[in-house]
Amino acid sequence: MALNQPRNEETLDSIFSKALKGRTLFKNHKALQSDFVPDHLPFRTNQLSSIAQVLAPILHSSKPSNLLIYGKTGTGKTAATRHIITKLADTALTNKNTQSKFVYCNARMSGTEYRTLADLATGIGLKIPFTGLAVTEVLSRMQAFMKTNSLKTVFVLDEIDYLVRSSGDDLLYDLTSSSDKISPGFLSLIGISNDLQFKEELGARVQSRLSEEEIVFPPYSAEELRTILNERASLALNPKAYMTAAINLCAALSGSEHGDARRAVDLLRIAGEIAEREGSDQLDERHVRIALQKIDQDRISEALRTLPIHAKIVLLASIHGSSSQKHTAQSSSGCVYEKYCELCEKTGLDALTTRRVSGLLTELDTLGLVTAAVVNYGRYGRTKKITSQVSMEVASKVFQQDEIIRNLIP
Ligand SMILES: Nc1ncnc2c1ncn2[C@@H]1O[C@H](COP(=O)(O)OP(=O)(O)OP(=O)(O)O)[C@@H](O)[C@H]1O
Ligand SMILES: [Mg+2]
Repeated sequence: MALNQPRNEETLDSIFSKALKGRTLFKNHKALQSDFVPDHLPFRTNQLSSIAQVLAPILHSSKPSNLLIYGKTGTGKTAATRHIITKLADTALTNKNTQSKFVYCNARMSGTEYRTLADLATGIGLKIPFTGLAVTEVLSRMQAFMKTNSLKTVFVLDEIDYLVRSSGDDLLYDLTSSSDKISPGFLSLIGISNDLQFKEELGARVQSRLSEEEIVFPPYSAEELRTILNERASLALNPKAYMTAAINLCAALSGSEHGDARRAVDLLRIAGEIAEREGSDQLDERHVRIALQKIDQDRISEALRTLPIHAKIVLLASIHGSSSQKHTAQSSSGCVYEKYCELCEKTGLDALTTRRVSGLLTELDTLGLVTAAVVNYGRYGRTKKITSQVSMEVASKVFQQDEIIRNLIP
């Protein structure tokens, strides 16, 4: 132990001195965090003014229409909506309008129907116990509070699809049909979703009430991402701390699937952190490529961690197959099944049927963890060839944390 100490201190010193040196890269780290709302949102002028037009009547005490906001992930829905409600809340306050309330709530973060409603209630100044009341009780307390105080309210429910999937649309029905119970106050609802299909899951009445107005956020082009990212970089990083080529690479890499600004901003932040950790003076393209690898690895680890147990075993069986036949790095689905049964036996679990395992292989394929290709042998028939896209090294790291699977790792 004693022998190790000087070495540890040396390491710490070098980490700290690198950190001190690297600190000059970021001037405002927050500006690259996911919940940061920039003052200026390029390429969203139309959407911002549409939202503002829908909500502006609240400033002269008229009820705004309910609004649904759609668009793929990372298209600026949350940022734009938060930007507008912050501006509206400021304008209302400057005009001494204290009865107008603007509450933002993310249904996924809140988690349950009860918490979602309790978070909305808290946002208008009504205290609700953490648990213990029925949802209907919270609702009627909230309505009574809004009526007594004549509150004119805009509720933003972000990731609204999460609420509907987990608890149905009862709460949305109650919220959109409560005007009698809260008058002279009122309530307008803005729902945000990146799932274009979710509207179909709403009952007809909720669907028509909630989508009185609709606004769609299109994906960004790679060129637009480049402008957005350059603005964010200039807010977050010191002028000489990054190469424009690195920013352009972040934009190009994030624009290749669909124009996702979150992915672009995350990539830039992680690249910056890597450069800082290395003690580099400047963020360059190499840091961006390392950051991309890290993001992809994290995504794979997360996918592996959350697989059901039999899918984990099927994946391990595919990895065994891929590594035992190095020349082809593939294995027939029959071999994978044999290996899978062998592994199940080791764990004491009953093996699933070939059909079920074939279904699991399709799911793993969808997740990008294996590729399954049908190979035709003419009159000798067809077989599915399975290639694992995950190395044993990566799988072992994640599966070590699973008590049952741990024993199957070579
Ligand atoms: N036009 C823009 N200008 C600057 N930054 C932007 C712009 N659009 C999005 N961003 C940034 O990109 C990130 C993702 O945006 P946002 O969270 O608003 O996406 P979203 O559409 O709500 O995605 P999701 O559906 O996944 O919730 C945020 O960091 C946001 O600040
Ligand atoms: Mg969002």
